[in-house]
Amino acid sequence: TTPLRLGIAGLGTVGVGVVKIIQQRANLLAARTGRPIEITCVSARSRSKDRGVDLSAYGWEDDPVAMAKRDDVDVFVELMGGEDGPAKAGTEAAIAAGKDVVTANKAMLAVHGQELAELAEDAGQLIRFEAAVAGGIPVIKALTEGLAGNQIDRVMGVMNGTCNYILTRMESAGLPYDEVFEEANQLGYLEADPNLDVGGIDAGHKLALLSAIAFGTKVDFGGVELEGIGQVTIEDIHQAADMGFRIKLLGVAQLTGRGLEQRMTPCLVPAASPLGQLEGGTNMVVLEGDAVGQIVLRGAGAGEGPTASAVLSDVLDIARGIRLSTFGQPAKGLEKMRRARVDSA
Ligand code: NDP
Ligand code: HSE
Repeated sequence: TTPLRLGIAGLGTVGVGVVKIIQQRANLLAARTGRPIEITCVSARSRSKDRGVDLSAYGWEDDPVAMAKRDDVDVFVELMGGEDGPAKAGTEAAIAAGKDVVTANKAMLAVHGQELAELAEDAGQLIRFEAAVAGGIPVIKALTEGLAGNQIDRVMGVMNGTCNYILTRMESAGLPYDEVFEEANQLGYLEADPNLDVGGIDAGHKLALLSAIAFGTKVDFGGVELEGIGQVTIEDIHQAADMGFRIKLLGVAQLTGRGLEQRMTPCLVPAASPLGQLEGGTNMVVLEGDAVGQIVLRGAGAGEGPTASAVLSDVLDIARGIRLSTFGQPAKGLEKMRRARVDSA
């Protein structure tokens, strides 16, 4: 049987997690897909850095874009991050060279997703991104596959673990925002640019991606009403608790009389609800479909194992010959702005 050959660009938290799963579970993965999953080449900024995994059996490219075009690579696994730069250039090069792409890069897709999805569609290639939204929670597959027969009414969720950690820690320890922010920083939770987390931007990226799938609209990150958690005080949290609520950085995307609404803002949620009970760095996504009703997905939204788990699910789909379009329907069929159902009825 023909192996599926991966080129992995980025050997940080997620990339190393992917390498470890492939090294540890080679037989299981081959049994599940009917073909061996092989890493043929890897790329990162530093070749000499000790990453705690043996990379000696793989080829090396300093330039991830060159790796994306190699003949011995079938799938370009983009785990570097960044809206543009080598992530986007590598993705474009891979598609042009007839390769599929698996990425965890929500920033790139929230901004360039429509353009990249159309590029992939024209070339007959795939871009899959299960890891980009809510880490280990298989929410993309839930929407594109499990709920494909539903009209989706609403998507909600807590999609940034760092913000949820900060808010729940402020409450449990009675500490002010600045102190908990510094604690999160010491623990290594914050993105290199912390405003991506606490400004709600990272979570907004994720919501924009889910909206496109759920409502058949072009990815519209600019249309997400954003407010971060920097203004939330310990007094706000205590007042909310006195009334039986907790404050969460909550994303909501839904069709209303004005069309698609997307909001990622600090919200009061009932303390007794599933969202209200979400602690620490965990994520939760609530999906509402007309046939299925409400589904609640909860789990690790970040970290080596959970995020690598999601990357592997996309790799295995490709190995199995599952050819799903990027946003669950042809990219050129996505609408700029879907009108409210009440208007179109
Ligand atoms: P890291 O910062 O840990 O790793 C990034 C890797 O990319 C490093 O190995 C780095 O090389 C390499 N890299 C960066 N820039 C370049 C470049 N210009 N050329 C070649 N290699 C480069 O990031 P993560 O693993 O945390 O994240 C990777 C992606 O996954 C991002 O898109 C992120 O948003 C996403 N993601 C991450 C999650 C997490 O929990 N960490 C969760 C969900 C998604 P070097 O090591 O040599 O510096
Ligand atoms: N910074 C993100 C978070 C990482 O805290 O959820 C996972 O996307």
